[in-house]
Amino acid sequence: MTASLTTEPAWKKLAAHHNQIKDRHLRDLFAADPGRGEALSVEAEGIFLDYSKNRIDSETLSLLVELAETAGLKDRIEAMMTGQKINTTEQRAVLHTALRAPRDAKIEFDGQNVVPEVHAVLDKMTRFSDRLTSGEWTGHTGKRIRNIVNVGIGGSDLGPVMAYEALRHYSNRDLTFRFVSNVDGTDFAEATRDLDPAETLFIIASKTFTTQETMTNARTARAWLLEGLGADDSAVAKHFVALSTNAEEVAAFGIDTDNMFGFWDWVGGRYSMDSAIGLSTMLAISPERFREMLAGFHAMDVHFRSAPLARNLPVIMGLLNVWYVNFFGSQTVAVLPYDQYLKRFPAYLQQLTMESNGKSVTLAGDRVNYDTSPIFWGEPGTNGQHSFYQLIHQGTHLIPCDFIAFAKSLNPIGDHHDKLNANVFAQGEALAMGKTRQQVLDEGTSEALAPHRVFEGNRPSNTLLIEELTPAVLGKLVALYEHSVFTQGVIWQINPFDQWGVELGKVLAKRIVPELQSDDGELQHDSSTNGLIRRYRSLKA
Ligand code: F6P
Repeated sequence: MTASLTTEPAWKKLAAHHNQIKDRHLRDLFAADPGRGEALSVEAEGIFLDYSKNRIDSETLSLLVELAETAGLKDRIEAMMTGQKINTTEQRAVLHTALRAPRDAKIEFDGQNVVPEVHAVLDKMTRFSDRLTSGEWTGHTGKRIRNIVNVGIGGSDLGPVMAYEALRHYSNRDLTFRFVSNVDGTDFAEATRDLDPAETLFIIASKTFTTQETMTNARTARAWLLEGLGADDSAVAKHFVALSTNAEEVAAFGIDTDNMFGFWDWVGGRYSMDSAIGLSTMLAISPERFREMLAGFHAMDVHFRSAPLARNLPVIMGLLNVWYVNFFGSQTVAVLPYDQYLKRFPAYLQQLTMESNGKSVTLAGDRVNYDTSPIFWGEPGTNGQHSFYQLIHQGTHLIPCDFIAFAKSLNPIGDHHDKLNANVFAQGEALAMGKTRQQVLDEGTSEALAPHRVFEGNRPSNTLLIEELTPAVLGKLVALYEHSVFTQGVIWQINPFDQWGVELGKVLAKRIVPELQSDDGELQHDSSTNGLIRRYRSLKA
């Protein structure tokens, strides 16, 4: 495909088709085809996706698939999964799928099969996990480790914290897990205030081992530990492990590289929760369950690679986002898990989706003339229903929603679960079908109030219905969104695997730190920034 995506025949056909279909109401589409719900559903690897409540017909999907074919999606998937350097702006391969490949798989990068290395790290993590949970690994004073504090940010935090929360049902309740990410000292203080240093292990998670926030928190953790134990640096070895690609910096920090769990530059930070970065997850749920999670990831990888595009879950979900962003002008997608354990899933997806596809330049370096990543946001249901759903139902924005629901509760109590799921099904129905003025009047509502009580409907949603939340299912769900992101990136011809957009703020912050710590020197910023720095100095004095 050329850089001018919008001049592609497949794109033009979609634009013309959009003109024909854009005013059709989901009410009418369902009325016209009693089999629509079934026809526009697909199941793979135990994940059932009902996408019939989208503003599409069967032609829409064919045209979107044609767009994906024109974009060479199949070839791009192969290029990614076979270790080609598709992250061209960083000259890196993108092989997170190798992290969950079975032991006997062969995935070559630069002439080397990477799978044995992946499993060597998993085995090392397993040995460490077994030693720690059995009590063989103790702290400096000989006390058993009971608290695990993961120190990391971005992909080195959001994956671990999301997975811990998601799989808490399966977790070892004898261990306490905390996650420190923010350079705001409050995060560290609150995470550690009730912990005994003698029983605490810090996992310093950082791909680069240079991230300002993580290294600041890591140094604070070391000082907190040594002060608490009244010990010297030799105590660090029993209370600190590192997850990183950067052995040199790990050693420079003072962590023995024997206590380092490595990964590789072909794993992006936001694609790393199934690498060594998942050590806290493994400690929480056990190595066996961690491997079940990896098997779930892998099952979705296989589906993505092999299923026909029109029956391919991540492809369908990715193409639907393209449909709404580029043809309906939608700006956001709401992710609404009806499961309290998935409370951090939307936050996790924010990094995965927006750090990946929040780009405005094509792989060839041209400014795009179409929109790219939508803004992802969300909260678990039913809580969101009582806060922001008003806007989704009656506001002026068209917000496609992903509902995620489970048939079985991990905490079955009375009729809670039926009520929970009655709500998720009701929301999808209400958004799609709405309520007409006539229906409102027939209920006895006055003419004056009727406009306020009308629901336009025709608001799209996907529903993912899954039997039960397990480690394997979590792996499948994450891989589903990873590959949906990839699909969108391929259509938009952007690189989902770099993140240059985070650099400028980092550089400026480094420059500003000394300016906040002294009153000397001319400030060279704009008048707003200079004024804020001066006011900060005087307020904190
Ligand atoms: O600043 C963004 C980022 O580079 C993310 O891409 C990454 O997940 C995060 O920072 C943390 O990076 P690291 O794991 O190297 O500390």
